[in-house]
Amino acid sequence: MRLSDEEFRRLGYQAVDIAARHLAELPDRPVFQRMDESQRRAIMNMPMPQVPLSGDEILGTVAEHIVPHPMGNGHPRFFGWVNSPPAMMAVITEIIAAAMNPSCAGGDHAAIYLEKCVIRWLMQLIGFPIEGSTGLLVSGTSAATLTALAAARHRALRELGIDVRKQGVCGSQARLRLYASTQVHGCAQKAVELLGLGSECIRWIGVDPDFRVSLHGLRQAIQEDRQQGWYPFCIVASAGSVHTGAIDPLDELASIASEFGLWLHVDGAYGAAGILDPDSEALFAGIGRADSVIL
Ligand SMILES: Cc1ncc(COP(=O)(O)O)c(C=O)c1O
Repeated sequence: MRLSDEEFRRLGYQAVDIAARHLAELPDRPVFQRMDESQRRAIMNMPMPQVPLSGDEILGTVAEHIVPHPMGNGHPRFFGWVNSPPAMMAVITEIIAAAMNPSCAGGDHAAIYLEKCVIRWLMQLIGFPIEGSTGLLVSGTSAATLTALAAARHRALRELGIDVRKQGVCGSQARLRLYASTQVHGCAQKAVELLGLGSECIRWIGVDPDFRVSLHGLRQAIQEDRQQGWYPFCIVASAGSVHTGAIDPLDELASIASEFGLWLHVDGAYGAAGILDPDSEALFAGIGRADSVIL
């Protein structure tokens, strides 16, 4: 429904007021409030409107039924999981992004170049080599892991003379092997399954008392697998594991990856930002030697 300029501004200010009130009141509310069944049903069973709803009706529904039940991650005492809180400037710029609604598959428009810029900044922040590298903004770490491991799979199969984009994984008899510690996030397994490699392609490696991957165990596993006809192709490391925040020894892993010709992928979903803290920076040494990093 097309709104007049005046109506757009009036509703926009109302939306800003709803967001501002929500953010201002959050700290004084409980971190989380379970929804009761009638509240859940009020949302799930809303009848499909037969005529366009007015802006006031839409905002009224949002304010009454949606905003009072956040996940909790914006609360200052949300310690349960790693989900980031809302960033106030992001709330504001989201309005403008939605007003432009760009398709970033390609083309010659500002959003494409902004994405390239942001990717370069992220590389710069974590000390990743900019020259010869590229990146993408995607929906989250599962999508990012799928993307990065697709690249790893592509390289491995190309080494075996298979163009996976043309021939698919069935073109190869190779038993590809990927290594990850038992603390690596489940999205790695999800990606491997979606990439048609099968979860048996993963060899899970034990961890030390600090929940970091055992380098000795990894080295032994690669050697054993090679002897048994597997084709080791990738190591997935954590730069902040979801369970404990453990950061794998990335520099040593990069050396092992280069010694055995493996792709090193680093999951820095939420942890890689720790590199900005001078007290933690050293823990991320070697992250720039990885083949792919997600954050
Ligand atoms: C370390 C790590 N990797 C991967 C993920 C999965 O991310 P997403 O939910 O964005 O797919 C998470 C989510 O918490 C995570 O903490």
